[in-house]
Amino acid sequence: MSEQASGRPPAIVLDSVSKAFGSHVVLDEVSLTVRHESIMVMLGPSGTGKSVLLRCLVGLLRPDKGRVLVFGEDVARLDPERPRDREELFRIRRRFGMLFQDGALFDDMTVGENVAFPMRMHTSKSEAEIRASVDDKLRRVGLPKAASKFPSELSGGMRKRVAFARAIALEPDIVLCDEPSSGLDPVMSATLDELILELHRTLGMTFVVISHDTAEARKIADTIGLLAKGKLVTYGPTEQVLRSNHPALRQFFERSTDGPIQVL
Ligand SMILES: Nc1ncnc2c1ncn2[C@@H]1O[C@H](COP(=O)(O)OP(=O)(O)O)[C@@H](O)[C@H]1O
Ligand SMILES: [Mg+2]
Repeated sequence: MSEQASGRPPAIVLDSVSKAFGSHVVLDEVSLTVRHESIMVMLGPSGTGKSVLLRCLVGLLRPDKGRVLVFGEDVARLDPERPRDREELFRIRRRFGMLFQDGALFDDMTVGENVAFPMRMHTSKSEAEIRASVDDKLRRVGLPKAASKFPSELSGGMRKRVAFARAIALEPDIVLCDEPSSGLDPVMSATLDELILELHRTLGMTFVVISHDTAEARKIADTIGLLAKGKLVTYGPTEQVLRSNHPALRQFFERSTDGPIQVL
């Protein structure tokens, strides 16, 4: 049954979302729908508004225009300065797990404490429950024995896995990953892609993954978007997007300097 037929709103709907900083238009009338339990990869050159888009999804930034519907609720309408709105915003935000681009771990806490942190902040779980849940999350990211280690004792790839464990600590409905493989070597990136697929398969969460890596998009996405100069150039099922002849898309996939995306 389609989502529309079931009456359940999609995980995310952006409806003509625009955001500018001063005269710099970063998002220009972006509209898209993310289905439940899909993996959407948003590609785009650096500085094109991908992280701004993620921040709009969780209400960390408010668009100037448009609606941001998360499970049917308009996040863009909520004003964090107003107590009632703020409460609602926090409730919605708890349905997200976030792996930020610069999402550092707390270096003075063990891996286990890092993963437990959101549970201590947002739940009333007992210590025993927290410990069991931390073990479960670390096992899921392939680090069953890491709880008592400190982040400094781990490789970059392992730290990313811990960040993933922390992002799924509250068993969110939607996981947002901002360039999860940036700064990692190709093999580590590939294992991270496998991890996303595995978490998706076993936990059935919806993933929104920001990337500038077309190989990653091919491998994990069922839906691909390309953002360039604030416009959603293309958006749709992976096979369809890969077949598309849109010049910006071709340029991006062919890693060419020649095309509509200009960096200088
Ligand atoms: N809080 C902010 N204030 C002013 N400009 C911002 C802010 N956040 C982002 N920008 C600008 O918006 C543009 C897009 O940024 P970003 O979404 O981080 O790009 P990327 O696609 O690389 O993630 C950049 O030019 C950035 O400088
Ligand atoms: Mg970014």
